[in-house]
Amino acid sequence: MQHITDIQPLSAGSYPVFYGSKVAPKLVQLWRPEWRRAALIADLTTERLFGRQLQGALENNGIDVLALSFEPGEQHKTRETKARLEDAMLAAGLDRSSCVVAVGGGIPLDLGGFIAATYMRGIAHVNVATTLLAQVDAAIGGKTAVNTARGKNLLGAFHHPRAVLLDTGALDLLPAVELKNGLAEAIKHAMLADPALFERLEGWAAKRSSDKPPDEIVARCVEIKAEVVAADDRDTGKRHILNFGHTVGHAIEHGTAHQTPHGHAVAIGMVVEARLAARAGWLTETAGLRLEALLNTLGLPTRPPCSFAEAAPGLAHDKKTTAGVIYCAIPTDLGVTEALGDGPGGWSRATSLDQIEKAWEAQA
Ligand SMILES: NC(=O)c1ccc[n+]([C@@H]2O[C@H](COP(=O)([O-])OP(=O)(O)OC[C@H]3O[C@@H](n4cnc5c(N)ncnc54)[C@H](O)[C@@H]3O)[C@@H](O)[C@H]2O)c1
Repeated sequence: MQHITDIQPLSAGSYPVFYGSKVAPKLVQLWRPEWRRAALIADLTTERLFGRQLQGALENNGIDVLALSFEPGEQHKTRETKARLEDAMLAAGLDRSSCVVAVGGGIPLDLGGFIAATYMRGIAHVNVATTLLAQVDAAIGGKTAVNTARGKNLLGAFHHPRAVLLDTGALDLLPAVELKNGLAEAIKHAMLADPALFERLEGWAAKRSSDKPPDEIVARCVEIKAEVVAADDRDTGKRHILNFGHTVGHAIEHGTAHQTPHGHAVAIGMVVEARLAARAGWLTETAGLRLEALLNTLGLPTRPPCSFAEAAPGLAHDKKTTAGVIYCAIPTDLGVTEALGDGPGGWSRATSLDQIEKAWEAQA
């Protein structure tokens, strides 16, 4: 596997990110002698597709593995699942010298990371990312969480992994809709921080034969996230920029009772927020139009799938809404984000329900 970069958070030790398809030997190679046992946490699909092979490789090297799994899907990223897996780890006698190996997309990674954060006050974990979304985003940066009935990711902890392995071969098995979810986040990274990456995505999108992006695009997204995490791993300022498209995106997920896939909601959210920004003079109209064209080329939606009235309650409940002011993180140019806003550190803009509604209706 190839080394992409080291993530260097201020609040934790640095850790490497590798990508490629020979994940099992790499996992064995970077296994530390002090990790005496492994808890391999996957959903049922990623356990079957990837977990068993990783388990075999660890066991062949004398590492005792407790394999744990749960049903795929957001509705299982819960305290209840966490407690069930933790009870199994306690029953099996795993102690502080154990290491969690989380295998899959953002859901097993968020859940496995949160278990590692709290098990015996914190043990090591390694992320093996098998979805595009996890590779360009969720596997990196130490955010871990579970959902509750009141909302997504409301309980969690910052707990960085010791290493991140991106299984690029796994993307060949990933359903198209999941690839598109990841592509939306890759476009977000490009819009925020790299005009050259944006151009590369435009060029690739126009002549692609599949929705699996080249490894270099994934690697560049990792570098962008690494830079943001190094500047603000505790999410008190600059990391807020990663919320571009997510304020409106979460409202769309709410307004469609979570029937809109996350990446689709973020795609539409980015277009609506870019339109709002163009109206306010914060971003050129051309940048918004290029964003929309790229999303269209990739078959991602750009128009709201529900009415503003249906989505609006989701804005009020958003974690980024403070005292009635709705914060949106928006680039200041295509591939550039400057701290010119009113939110913490200047990295997001204070907006109103009225502004969002006008941009929404213009895009509807
Ligand atoms: N921690 C963070 O910084 C961060 C950032 C972004 C998103 N997230 C979280 O990530 C989650 C979404 O992640 P996701 O989109 O990866 O979802 P996911 O983990 O549910 O994976 C999507 C689906 O693909 C299946 N799958 C995984 N890899 C596969 C493969 N290679 N081939 C075939 N099927 C495969 C899974 O079983 C699942 O059904 C959300 O809960 C979100 O909150 C976290």
